[in-house]
Amino acid sequence: MKTIPTYQWQPTTPEIAARAGIPEHLVERFDQNTSPLPPPAVDRIIKSRTRLNEYPAASYADLRNAVASNVNLDPDNVAPGAGADELILLSARAFLDPGDIAVVATPTYPLYQIATAQARATLREVAAIGPDFSFPTQEFLETATDAQLIWLCIPNNPTGNGPDNAALETLLATGSRVIIDAAYAEFSEDDWTSKIRLHPNLLVLHTMSKAYGLAGARVGYAIGDRAAIASIDAIRPPSSIGSLSLEVALDALNAPEQMQANVSSLRAARVDLAAQLTKLGLRVLESSTNFLLCEYGPNAADLQDKLMVEGIVVRKFPADGPLEDYLRFTVRTPAANARLIETLERKME
Ligand SMILES: Cc1ncc(COP(=O)(O)O)c(C=O)c1O
Repeated sequence: MKTIPTYQWQPTTPEIAARAGIPEHLVERFDQNTSPLPPPAVDRIIKSRTRLNEYPAASYADLRNAVASNVNLDPDNVAPGAGADELILLSARAFLDPGDIAVVATPTYPLYQIATAQARATLREVAAIGPDFSFPTQEFLETATDAQLIWLCIPNNPTGNGPDNAALETLLATGSRVIIDAAYAEFSEDDWTSKIRLHPNLLVLHTMSKAYGLAGARVGYAIGDRAAIASIDAIRPPSSIGSLSLEVALDALNAPEQMQANVSSLRAARVDLAAQLTKLGLRVLESSTNFLLCEYGPNAADLQDKLMVEGIVVRKFPADGPLEDYLRFTVRTPAANARLIETLERKME
């Protein structure tokens, strides 16, 4: 049997706290691109009348309606999922047959590789270009000509960029199934509605884990042409989003101004953090997301380790890969970011 790659989890907060000898609340996670700003309704909803002895309504009609009205599409253009992760896995199962070809630009989020392998398809990886990891347009277009599925992450985790509009239109015109993981779209103000209306082969995946501050709730949604949504619904587990998560997600979707305010403050914090990291001598790549990818140098993994001992968790990358010298920092609150900078100052010498 072919070996399928598995998802590598980061150490948990209790594990890091135990290693650092500090209480869990002093562990600050700069490694998961999550939000430090949960929606205010969470406490109220946990005390609400949600009936946990019953199943959630499996159609998730309220969730579909709330998303549809926010993105200006119809409810049957929306499929719910337990996070974008579940929708990535479902997309591979829905649109890839064994032996099919999928294409992705690397480095990127590792789940596309895992999902493709689980669907027994072949993944062609095209390396991003040069010091800023620009999208490898020419080679990608050539590699994708006979692919059944194209994975795109826009903006890309961890490089923050993606194909330009002309390349995207060329890829959509191939007629291959194009899946855009738009996990960070709210930070970059990308709006995919008009492209979905024009391209039935496009499916766009969204998460409530990042801008909405609900990573623990596990809610995401796909938007796309009705037939593509029906293909996802056909293989979706009956009720993978729990009732409490559903309540919290609905509340957040129905008050998008709260999310927008959080996005604005995180963007402002990102600009400050980028300036301070630059001052410390790191090369900070452009970002329209809630994270910053920075070139540090050959001791990046050591530095990550030294920070971890103090409960500051940042993302490092595999030693044999193109991001060996890089670290990725999630933008947190101004106070947490200041603690990061202060700790970096001490640990970098
Ligand atoms: C590009 C990308 N897609 C998907 C996810 C996971 O999203 P979710 O929490 O909705 O499963 C992440 C999380 O880091 C991500 O960076």
